[in-house]
Amino acid sequence: MNENVIALDGPAGSGKSTVARRIAEKIGYNYLDTGAFYRAVTLYLHRLFQGSSNAGTFEDWVKTSEAKNSITDAHILCEFSSGNENRIFLNGEDVSLAIRTPEITREIKHIANQRIYRDFVNKELHSLAKLHKLIMDGRDIGTEVFPDARFKFFLTASSKIRAERRTLQLKEQGIEADQDEIEREIFLRDKSDTEREIAPLYQAKDAILIDTDILSKNSVISKILEILDR
Ligand code: CDP
Repeated sequence: MNENVIALDGPAGSGKSTVARRIAEKIGYNYLDTGAFYRAVTLYLHRLFQGSSNAGTFEDWVKTSEAKNSITDAHILCEFSSGNENRIFLNGEDVSLAIRTPEITREIKHIANQRIYRDFVNKELHSLAKLHKLIMDGRDIGTEVFPDARFKFFLTASSKIRAERRTLQLKEQGIEADQDEIEREIFLRDKSDTEREIAPLYQAKDAILIDTDILSKNSVISKILEILDR
């Protein structure tokens, strides 16, 4: 069993990051946002693609050996902080905001379905788990990356509730967002995350399912803490 890892998987907007941050704080673990690694790899490749004279699509280009070979020059670093707000650095540049644009969110699927990029991210996650106690949120942590994690949770909620939460979260950040549009985006992301051939999103057999539709954030946190305490 990997004593250093608690896995928290689930679809977009199921509340994983907020819950993971708070739990990490309570139990003295670091929070690790694994999606941020996929975002940073996407940003890295997207910039290279835009700077190249390639006439094709990004989707096709990421499958070429030129793109695949370039990944060895991407150095991604995650900085932990006391508030558990991960800062992500790409080759020394703080890209914590740049990885969250709608454009990057749309393009991630072309990276997340390629074995080479997933192996690259997983190697980083394994190195970090050797050094730190981590609560990781993601899609495949309990199934693929750390099937031996100490605890596994799977958070879920209806797409309507998840879209409602995302819209509110964006409003709080001063960003106007259309809830129907967000729900459509969530639907498409669920589809590509659950239907991809490599490391699709699903609940591990031994993961504890938590439906956050019917539970408040605080109830979810208490429930997880109670289980961890047993
Ligand atoms: O925070 P949000 O729900 O928007 O997503 P994220 O955690 O930042 O992850 C962005 C995307 O990265 C997901 O939709 C997945 O396609 C991919 N991802 C993945 O494939 N495996 C992970 N362990 C984490 C994220």
